[in-house]
Amino acid sequence: MAKNKNDLMDKIVSWAKRRGFIFPSSEIYGGFSAVYDFGPYGVELENNIKKFWWKTMVQKRDDIVGLDSCIFMHPKIWEASGHVGGFSDPLVECKKCNSRLRVDHLLEDIGVMADEKMSEEVINEIFSKNKDKVKCPNCGSSNFSDVKKFNLLVKANLGNFTEDWTKDPTYLRGETCQGIYVNYKNVVDTTRVRIPFGIAQIGKAFRNEITARQFIFRTREFEQMEMQYFTHPDKEMEAYEKLREYRWQYYMDLGLKKENLRWLKHENLVFYAKEAYDIEYKYPFGFKELEGVHARGDYDLTQHTKFSGKDLSYNDPVTKEKYIPHIIESSVGVGRTALAVLCDAYTEEKVKDEERIVLKLNKELAPIKIAVFPLLKNKPQLVEKSFEIYSELKEDYMCEFDDNGNIGKRYRRQDEIGTPYCVTVDFETLEKDNSVTVRDRDTMEQERIKIEELKDYFQKKFK
Ligand code: GAP
Repeated sequence: MAKNKNDLMDKIVSWAKRRGFIFPSSEIYGGFSAVYDFGPYGVELENNIKKFWWKTMVQKRDDIVGLDSCIFMHPKIWEASGHVGGFSDPLVECKKCNSRLRVDHLLEDIGVMADEKMSEEVINEIFSKNKDKVKCPNCGSSNFSDVKKFNLLVKANLGNFTEDWTKDPTYLRGETCQGIYVNYKNVVDTTRVRIPFGIAQIGKAFRNEITARQFIFRTREFEQMEMQYFTHPDKEMEAYEKLREYRWQYYMDLGLKKENLRWLKHENLVFYAKEAYDIEYKYPFGFKELEGVHARGDYDLTQHTKFSGKDLSYNDPVTKEKYIPHIIESSVGVGRTALAVLCDAYTEEKVKDEERIVLKLNKELAPIKIAVFPLLKNKPQLVEKSFEIYSELKEDYMCEFDDNGNIGKRYRRQDEIGTPYCVTVDFETLEKDNSVTVRDRDTMEQERIKIEELKDYFQKKFK
């Protein structure tokens, strides 16, 4: 019954499939590692998360604009960004079963912290010292190869029609923000933004992750929501503190429990970073990175200036000062957010000796906002009336009509997918006062509302 059981993750994985939220990719072909598909309710949840993020990061801000850059970009971009040379994870091979494993994860499992950003030599040394304690999770052997760094960029042959295209590949983007950096000048030149300002983008990213672990937490194809904020060099840290506060408040508004969130300051900063924090969420497998909020200095635009040969400095129209803007970023995955939201909302509780699973989601994130039922399926007048109400409400809300099974089962099903309100048409509706019952997901209390007042009623409820 209680949450926080070790098996919470297993429960969420099977519930997410059973209830049409998340499916393993290519299941009928035996699955495809580290890729997941979002089902009919999952896609609604994802879309609502993205809408919520966009509203917070673009709509409500006078100083941030949106962008949709492409997945494929000039390959030189990935050289300039450092991804071709340095975007890699430390890997070992188990000599007994040939599994390929991530060294920092193996070390973490025995309580030794190693950072994926450490050099090959340093990580090799740490691993050698601890080799005897580390066991292959697949066969239990401690016989490993030396540590190698494995590049995470996914290669493609877009526009390259030669046999040996791997020598001159294009890349599926490893992060969305590079599309922002290379469009920064276009945005400055074509819109009315002035520094400080931000550019926000949501889109797919791809990484050849070595190990597939923890469900949708770490996948090879995922979606990022990133905002890059361009500042005057002297104002970077002031803007950074503000952004940290803003992003924390976002998670409060999203409805995540405060006790399940914390800040983690990076101790091993990459050479160009001024400061870096992660917002970590307490997933069933422990506190892990949900979002990164980083102060990146002038690294990105300096690199792109160098590699493209184009001057990316900013000319301040008021002060006439010319400088390379410094960048602070907020970067979070849609899937990682969805997993945090599901873990936070998934609740098992006892109701009069019966167990119910209820997804106590923020209403704005709920896949279905209102479900409408006739009390009985075999009474055409009830069915007709409820379908009429459903047809009206679906103009404004994502609704579901259900006349299957008994009413108790229909309520339970909607509870499980997090539907905040269920409307039921019963005999009183037809015979008495044209009112329906509206049941609240969390309290399970019902109140009678006149049909003609339903629109106003829900408008207030969803405000
Ligand atoms: N532009 C900075 C950047 O990409 P990152 O820490 O590599 O930084 C940012 O990724 C966020 O993207 C992470 O905090 C996480 O939410 C999400 N993310 C990264 N890799 C992921 C993966 N393999 N699967 C799912 N989400 C991932």
